[in-house]
Amino acid sequence: MPTVHIGDASVHYQEAGSGNDVVLLLHAFPLHSGMWAPQLSGLAGRFRVIAPDHRGLGQSRPAPAATTMELVAGDAIALLRKLGIRRAGVAGLSMGGYAAFELYRRAPDLFRGLALCDTKATPDTSEQRAARQTFAANALEKGLSWVADDFAPKLLRPEADPAVMAQVRALIGDGTPEGVAAAQRGMGLRADSVPTLGRITCPTVVIQGDQDQIVPFGEAQRMAQTIKGARLVRIPGAGHLPNLENPPAFNAALSSFFAALPSDLPVAPPETE
Ligand code: MLT
Repeated sequence: MPTVHIGDASVHYQEAGSGNDVVLLLHAFPLHSGMWAPQLSGLAGRFRVIAPDHRGLGQSRPAPAATTMELVAGDAIALLRKLGIRRAGVAGLSMGGYAAFELYRRAPDLFRGLALCDTKATPDTSEQRAARQTFAANALEKGLSWVADDFAPKLLRPEADPAVMAQVRALIGDGTPEGVAAAQRGMGLRADSVPTLGRITCPTVVIQGDQDQIVPFGEAQRMAQTIKGARLVRIPGAGHLPNLENPPAFNAALSSFFAALPSDLPVAPPETE
């Protein structure tokens, strides 16, 4: 399994495909890069696809006290640099979208295009922040099966396919309670990305499952209306994870968006560790 060392952390990532046109996939909470399996296989014929695990989730270690979006964005920049990649199409789903906003603020020139999937630009209210602290405490006390019982049904459409539900529960089970708690604390600390919307100049698509139970559709509409030239695509028959609930429609939306961007510069040789 490929891993890069960034400071004291080991950041694990998955990679598929080849070529100069890179797509970076940033995953949702409380999952890991494995949630992108249908995209790693579905997009690899056309793109080089890179999907890291955020610290404390999947196989990236150690879990910090808070997996902030600054940390996730910094790891993504360091990973791409180590791989010799200067520009990429970036798709972030939910927590991955929060991190994509931070990545854009730090490295706008890195972006060939941006896909904001089932995410929002608004920060947490004080009630939402408090709920994250409670969730973190419960995760530490009750463990990952509690996390899966509580959260997996929210991630999928109300009448979810049992096989997809089992897949999501397994992805949650691959984590650690400490990593889940750290991600909740980090999301609670995220910046308000609403002011960023007007500053995004790369081509952008907003994608959302039509039965998302976590992000209100109004958030997606607002992002698509505020980001210059952005398009909005709804994925039918899908909740918060349309990449898993309707992979053909999700892959078609992502692939047609990234394929329409101009081809990129050759990738530089990777750095040696
Ligand atoms: C996610 O799917 O990444 C989370 O639901 C985001 C959040 O809790 O705000």
